[in-house]
Amino acid sequence: MSTFNNDPISPHGGQELVDLRVPDSERAQMRVYAEKLPVATLNARDLADLEMLATGAFSPLTGYMGEADYLRSRDEMRLASGTPWPIPITLGVDEATARGLARGQDVALAAENGDRIAILRVTEIYQVDRRREAEAVFGTADEAHPGVRNVLAMMPWCLGGRVMLFEEVPGRTFLQYPREPRQCRAQFRTNGWRKIVAFQTRNPTHRAHEYIQKAALEICDGLLLHPLVGETKDDDVPAAVRMETYELLLKLYYPRGRAMLAVMPAHMRYGGPREAILHAIVRRNYGCTHFIVGRDHAGVGKYYGSYDAQKIFDRFDPAEIGITPLTFENTFYCRRCGAMASYKTCPHSDEDRLLLSGTKVREMLRRGESPPPEFTRPEIAAVLVRAMKETK
Ligand code: ADX
Repeated sequence: MSTFNNDPISPHGGQELVDLRVPDSERAQMRVYAEKLPVATLNARDLADLEMLATGAFSPLTGYMGEADYLRSRDEMRLASGTPWPIPITLGVDEATARGLARGQDVALAAENGDRIAILRVTEIYQVDRRREAEAVFGTADEAHPGVRNVLAMMPWCLGGRVMLFEEVPGRTFLQYPREPRQCRAQFRTNGWRKIVAFQTRNPTHRAHEYIQKAALEICDGLLLHPLVGETKDDDVPAAVRMETYELLLKLYYPRGRAMLAVMPAHMRYGGPREAILHAIVRRNYGCTHFIVGRDHAGVGKYYGSYDAQKIFDRFDPAEIGITPLTFENTFYCRRCGAMASYKTCPHSDEDRLLLSGTKVREMLRRGESPPPEFTRPEIAAVLVRAMKETK
């Protein structure tokens, strides 16, 4: 019987979480074998994908996509099997590497320092059009978009196949926190939580974030505060600073036993609506039953409409996504309401509302000024001001 039968939600696309790690007893043998194989080198984003695959966070994927999954996920947001999957997960290699390989061959996957950490059993070698992929996934091929830039930088030759990981993924950070679906599911069981809401974030927690987390927590048993700690764009607040703000916030403003902090090793794609679906599916694998999608989820610049990332869920049958999106409109502090509110709950005008853009807040922090307490808790603002000074 599956370990997950008693969990409130099954993994995406099946009853079992994928696990691509080689058992301890076989690792030594694998290391020796891998030394003899041709090599493909992974960058930080590839390594993040590898960890997501290996721990089952990307279940039901068992490796880098083959061509049928690639094309259907790009064009229809589904795997070849029909299971929803909004963003291709591929391993790009240069032409010489691709041409030097044959199907059925094993390839060692190495980090940039040359350490071999996994084996890929190559079942497919195919070529893709990265520009077309960017247009499909991001709705644009504009190189000013950070996610587009990353996709266009990927080699067009892809190796598809099952992965076997025999070392820990190098460069992992925040090891003191739960980071795998199995760890989070186990903790939810221990806590006795059946309705669990996940909050994706790549920013420090401002009052708007806190407000929607707590609104969701009112109807759930527990909150998984689940920051993404893989690569983000350069002007995003570094993960180490963000983690400090999350810790502080939980300590000062959340009841013990109702909220838990864990990290998600994925890199940020800035894919707006499509990434919202991916974020939801991944949180289902982590064992969450509900997922917060607020204003401009996973957005960047002006590429997506404020609520596009909410509307995209309508394109799927709720049962096939499984996890329930909890959607929130733009939230802010309203002076006349004397409370946090949203366009849905506040009848006043923008003059009464404290609306600060991310850019404005960054400027304030750079000048050493704290944003007002109605926007950011003072204790959090102090961390951000200090961090900004240290990076000057
Ligand atoms: S994201 O790239 O991870 O989406 P961020 O960490 O800022 O960025 O947002 C985390 C979640 O909070 C997302 O679901 C986002 O839509 C939501 N959110 C952020 N700010 C607001 C706001 N002012 N009002 C409503 N939702 C918000």
